[in-house]
Amino acid sequence: MSFKDDGQFDIGFDVDMAYVFTEDVRFVLSGASENPIGEGYVVLGDSRNPAEVVEGMFDLVVTSPPYANRMSYIRELRPYMYWLGFLINGRDAGELDWTAIGGTWGIATSRLTDWKRPTDYFKSTNLSAALDKIAQAGNKNGAVLANYVAKYFDDMWSHFLRLTPVLDRGAELHYIVGNSTFYGTLVSTELLYAEMLAALGFSEIECRAIRKRNSKKELVEFDVVARWKNG
Ligand SMILES: C[S@@+](CC[C@H](N)C(=O)[O-])C[C@H]1O[C@@H](n2cnc3c(N)ncnc32)[C@H](O)[C@@H]1O
Repeated sequence: MSFKDDGQFDIGFDVDMAYVFTEDVRFVLSGASENPIGEGYVVLGDSRNPAEVVEGMFDLVVTSPPYANRMSYIRELRPYMYWLGFLINGRDAGELDWTAIGGTWGIATSRLTDWKRPTDYFKSTNLSAALDKIAQAGNKNGAVLANYVAKYFDDMWSHFLRLTPVLDRGAELHYIVGNSTFYGTLVSTELLYAEMLAALGFSEIECRAIRKRNSKKELVEFDVVARWKNG
């Protein structure tokens, strides 16, 4: 998505980059050589209301949703989106990011400043405690970051809430998601998902740690697993 020049790339020991690249391509090609059987569909829709674009019932949901870490997909992909005609003017990128869960590019950030939680938000003492800490972290951006985190979980709550009508009994969920930190406050996204799923009546909920992320030591990626009304 973005490239650094040679001078910025110093990992302190000699690496045969051509060899590494060839091996990586070989690995990708060998994985791509086995095609899954069946048909796949790409649908354009908002995951906060799946029933609008897909017809259930589904017995398996495997996804990697956005993380609550201010990663902006539109920031990275804007050039291609303009070239391909999906975005026409500068404002479009921010408008699209406002509809994305965890989006915070351009106008999306300024809207967060005045944004208020809807009345039907997910009530969690753990989330409220984390939001208070982020807002009062003594940083001038604390309040807007707390709004960012609150909106992220409100959107995920809408998603889980409206996902249930398209789930078959016994359906299995797998959400691959990482936790985050804001000014030293750990936001345990996986545990908050688990709380939401439990509140909706899912069972067999587990947060399985699958790997450490190398950016900060407390950051871990989880597979959040749950089952919808078994039997
Ligand atoms: C962590 S990425 C995973 C992408 C995909 N699973 C993959 O491996 O390429 C999260 C994705 O969710 C998308 N997304 C964010 N908000 C969404 C929404 N409201 N409805 C549908 N997709 C959304 C983002 O654009 C991003 O592509």
